Amino acid sequence: LILRAFLLPLLGMLIAGPANGADGESQFKKLCGGCHKADGTGVPGFGPPLKDGLKPMLETGGGTSYVAYVLIGGLSGPIESMGKRYSGVMPSFAAQSDETLLAVLTHVVGTLNGFTPPDASALASARADKPTPKANHDRREKLLGAGA
Ligand code: HEC
Repeated sequence: LILRAFLLPLLGMLIAGPANGADGESQFKKLCGGCHKADGTGVPGFGPPLKDGLKPMLETGGGTSYVAYVLIGGLSGPIESMGKRYSGVMPSFAAQSDETLLAVLTHVVGTLNGFTPPDASALASARADKPTPKANHDRREKLLGAGA
């Protein structure tokens, strides 16, 4: 009886995991994998690699906020990433909750690139600034210019 009443529901909760969907890797696969590939290695000529591809920006120190800005505002205009040219449009994900976006940021910045992920304040600044895709392109150029 004790087993049924307490242990089985507890076990069920453990197996189901967090119900809020904040798991960064699964959110990444769902929201970003179509264009950047499920493992983040990118689709040549279409979606740039996010695994290792963000290191040049992250190494400048301003890169974690850049990634938050791209998630909120999107990105357009030609870029070069890991030696290949891309010229597509990255859509805005501002409609997603901060919880979901932070989980994705932690996966992208932390797991895929090995840098310290941003906290909620980076998302708050990006939301307050309402960056355009073009402004984010300028932001990227400026970061890389400063890092060179
Ligand atoms: C509909 C396709 C699409 C989806 C979905 C998408 N992206 Fe993108 N993303 C792009 C494209 C295309 C670019 C490059 C835009 C350009 O050439 O200016 C890009 C660029 C980026 C960049 C900047 C890369 C760099 O080198 O500066 C980041 C960061 C990024 N995406 C993260 C994400 C994350 C995280 C998700 C999921 C929440 C996501 N993207 C979902 C298409 C997409």
